[in-house]
Amino acid sequence: MDPQKTVFSGIQPTAAPHIGNYLGALKNYVELSKIYRCVYSVVDLHSITVRQDPEGLRRRVRELYALLLACGPEPRNTVLYVQSHVPAHAELCWILNNFTMFGELSRMTQFKDKSAKHADNINAGLFTYPVLQAADIVLYGADIVPIGEDQKQHLELARDIAIRFNGVYGEILTVPEPLIPKLGGRIMSLADPSHKMDKSDPNPAGVLSMLDDRDAIIKKCKRAVTDSGAEVRYDPVEKPGVSNLMTIYGLCVGKDMQAVEKEFAGQGYGAFKTAVGEAADSVLSPIRAKAAEYIQTPAHLDKLMAEEAGRAEAIAEPVLRRVRDAIGFLPRK
Ligand code: TRP
Repeated sequence: MDPQKTVFSGIQPTAAPHIGNYLGALKNYVELSKIYRCVYSVVDLHSITVRQDPEGLRRRVRELYALLLACGPEPRNTVLYVQSHVPAHAELCWILNNFTMFGELSRMTQFKDKSAKHADNINAGLFTYPVLQAADIVLYGADIVPIGEDQKQHLELARDIAIRFNGVYGEILTVPEPLIPKLGGRIMSLADPSHKMDKSDPNPAGVLSMLDDRDAIIKKCKRAVTDSGAEVRYDPVEKPGVSNLMTIYGLCVGKDMQAVEKEFAGQGYGAFKTAVGEAADSVLSPIRAKAAEYIQTPAHLDKLMAEEAGRAEAIAEPVLRRVRDAIGFLPRK
């Protein structure tokens, strides 16, 4: 245990996480919580940069919160809270906006991608999204930020903002380091193995959602796009579909690709695909069941969220106070 170090990560409640999110991120969150102080946030403030329907947002925040809880991070070392319950995020974001350059934000590839995708709603929140992300991270004095490859640029910017702020006011903010998992970060769509599995994919056939039931998981695996030939062999270039299923299987049962090839040598795709579905379900079903219990007791969930927001605030408040003092805001007496 290295309680000196703090981990922070955020997940957007845009859709339920999928098996790639679990294997690449959530599973790792649990491991990290055995070693470090971990702060995990359902980042609903981030999600409104794209229009959300209120009822759907409420449901997805509860579902994501329940799923994260159900993964079983070490409770003594983990704070799990809903971002909008802690107003300090918005306050620090405003402050850090003044330490972030227009040019820097213009260069963010996610901003460019999302602007292209939502051309009718290129709002200022979408533009300053990475500043809110920087605020999330420095608010908890995070040393380590587990993220996917796609968030590297945002983390680099968070570091630059913290360094710039410290350059003006002294060592106030902790400069974070990214932690990018080697494995599981690249689970591809079952329907199109040339694209990453995406929780917001309009085609559900490509996505093994953490909320899918056993039948759905097995059906989707059976229908997964595979390659010509009949051999279960790991070759991401020639056989991207089969290789992706092998990766899922290997991560679920804890075997490397060689061992998976051996296990299915001489068997066709059919038996292999069924085995992938069963392996995925056996990893996800206990989590799904636990999450369902939480979702079915909303009063208990609400109480937990409120307590956790209080614990998050207790960490964030002193950091925000140091920032306010450094800038020269008069304390409210
Ligand atoms: N932008 C991240 C994503 O889309 C989510 C996020 C928000 C985040 N704030 C964060 C991740 C802080 C790590 C740290 O995946």
